Amino acid sequence: TIDQRVDLLLKEMTLEEKVGQMNQYNGFWNVTGPAPKGGNAEKKYDDLKKGRVGSMLNVRGVKEVRAVQKIAVEQSRLGIPLIIGFDVIHGYKTLSPIPLAESASWDLEAIRKSASVAADEASAAGINWTFAPMVDISRDARWGRVMEGAGEDTYLGSKIAEARVKGFQGDLSKNSNIIACAKHFAAYGFAEAGRDYNTVDIGNNTLYNVVLPPFKAASDAGARTFMNSFNILNGMPATGSKFLQRDILKGKWGFKGFVVSDWGSIGEMIDHGYANNGYDAAMKAVNAGSDMDMESNAYVENLVKLVQDKKVEASVIDDAAKRILRVKFELGLFDDPYRYCDEKRETTIGQKANRDAVLDMAKKSIVLLKNDGNLLPLKKSGQKIALIGALANDKNSPLGSWRIAADDNSAVSVYEGLKQYKGNSLVYEKGADVSVGATSFTTEVNINTTDKSGFEAAKNVAKSADVVIMVLGEIGFQSGEARSRTNLDLPGVQQELLEEIFKVNRNIVLVLNNGRPLVLDWAKANIPAIVEAWHLGTETGNAVAQVLYGDYNPSGKLTMSFPRNVGQVPIYYNQYSTGRGGKTETVFWSHYSDVDKMPLFPFGFGLSYTKFAYSNLKIDKTSYKKGEPIKVSVDVKNTGDFDGKEVVQLYIHDEVASLARPVKELKGFELVPLKKGESKTVSFTLTEKELGFFDNDGNFLVEAGSFKIYVGTNSQDVLESKFELQ
Ligand code: IFM
Repeated sequence: TIDQRVDLLLKEMTLEEKVGQMNQYNGFWNVTGPAPKGGNAEKKYDDLKKGRVGSMLNVRGVKEVRAVQKIAVEQSRLGIPLIIGFDVIHGYKTLSPIPLAESASWDLEAIRKSASVAADEASAAGINWTFAPMVDISRDARWGRVMEGAGEDTYLGSKIAEARVKGFQGDLSKNSNIIACAKHFAAYGFAEAGRDYNTVDIGNNTLYNVVLPPFKAASDAGARTFMNSFNILNGMPATGSKFLQRDILKGKWGFKGFVVSDWGSIGEMIDHGYANNGYDAAMKAVNAGSDMDMESNAYVENLVKLVQDKKVEASVIDDAAKRILRVKFELGLFDDPYRYCDEKRETTIGQKANRDAVLDMAKKSIVLLKNDGNLLPLKKSGQKIALIGALANDKNSPLGSWRIAADDNSAVSVYEGLKQYKGNSLVYEKGADVSVGATSFTTEVNINTTDKSGFEAAKNVAKSADVVIMVLGEIGFQSGEARSRTNLDLPGVQQELLEEIFKVNRNIVLVLNNGRPLVLDWAKANIPAIVEAWHLGTETGNAVAQVLYGDYNPSGKLTMSFPRNVGQVPIYYNQYSTGRGGKTETVFWSHYSDVDKMPLFPFGFGLSYTKFAYSNLKIDKTSYKKGEPIKVSVDVKNTGDFDGKEVVQLYIHDEVASLARPVKELKGFELVPLKKGESKTVSFTLTEKELGFFDNDGNFLVEAGSFKIYVGTNSQDVLESKFELQ
């Protein structure tokens, strides 16, 4: 068995070699964090030869991977192969939509498939480990990394975590699958004020009920690795948290894989004021359960001495090394270290089937936010269309953040997509640049806040158009890691451009490109049609064009609440009742004096070109014994003029409990295709798993009492019923 093989190998290994397995170096390019600490190339090659490296990240392409693997296998004493990690976040070269966009599809099978396409391409480039999925829940659109997650909801986030893990890992006996990494453990998405890497101070209620369940789902789905996070959590760096890594993950949840640190996060415990130096940091991290050191250099430099000094038990090192070796055996690397180095397979990267798959995912990710007067879908002939906005003609931005292996400018732009519909005339004007100067993954984005010289030309084309399509929003690198914002408006002069065009032509379709919720209050009040098109990846333009022209009827629903203004953030649907929720005749109720307290667009919101009517919400009984399944059904009818799909959503509210429960919690959903005029009864079954919650000690409780059930088209527009749990 694998465990026997691991044990045999471990017996042959010196302490230094075991520690070597726990060391991960960045490759010689593609930095995804601050300057690497692992030394220069010469030092790294030397360490590879000495068996002092267990893994490398940011090495890609069969040639490069083969080269480092060859050193490890042929020149180190035991020839233990490397595991090769890379941030395959939403595709490798052929990019699918950013993960937040994909989550808006609520289509678990499509999301699984998207991850498997990503795995297929990455594995063909020599990679066998992705640092994905990011399963951090976040309620704060200021945090740039919301683009990388599945939104604000734990239930949906858990389902998507499972789908992504299964998509990446599939059947590991095939070399087209790679191992997944659930990250960032834990609570990274709760960084104060949305500033990346910032302090996290949350209560156990949020930790157990909101933050941890998607990680548990990833672990249950078989994720082979976890990555810990940069942040401190209630004063303790997550990287040094025994509570998270040993007690919960490896203890309670029985996780058998290994934990990798985030980039330099072991060393950053010194900056947090939790460790004195590298020696101290290595001791604290390894004892807490961090098995592999990404780019702190702390393990390779200190662990041997720490064991000699009796600060770290040899068994702790054995356990970490075993966990890492087990995964390498599972990947088949001991049987064939070059299993992922197949030059022939590498030529399949970017193949048509993959482009078709990401196009499908892109269409499913689009959310129709407004469509007054049925401005959409566009008529296919006889129309003069004006297309405005720098993002409309951008082949780079739609790739989004985390697209390190994609070729620059490899996306189909919206302009290119629309040009394929030849029945209408199409004129393009930029209007204004979004950013100034080149941008990249490692540089800040400079937003154009002054140059409006293109406004007049844009107004001129808008004046005579039947419909104006404006593509506005964030450029691809404006969201992502270290891309926090305090202002969620359309960046730069784009809002002004929108308002100027509106003065000459009100028939505007606003197509948004963004990696996070934006503030769209003016647009919602004034613009007749709004399409949320995120950063949709390689096939962006084709997906957008097919939706605008009605060849695809959008069915996406938001997975993060869109605020009315940034002052509402953090905002999320599953909040708690205050003692003063309802309006009173005085001012003493929980509200804002300047703006409505509800979001502009709620969680779960999204329109279709057709209409859906909900009726007949039924629960099979009014009272249940604990353990009995609760059967809920609702009739949904397509009453509009198009075939379509609807995400039917079920929420519960536990009315009185030993700890207050949120006003609504998503506990079921189904994506239902309905032909024009068709009606279906949609059924859900609730079990204790959906009805219970965690107390502040992490115990799962299912309590008797009355529950409300809500079913509907989004978290606000719902039918309501109730039942008792005995
Ligand atoms: O995987 C990432 C992580 O999410 C952020 N820091 C760098 C890692 C490796 O690139």
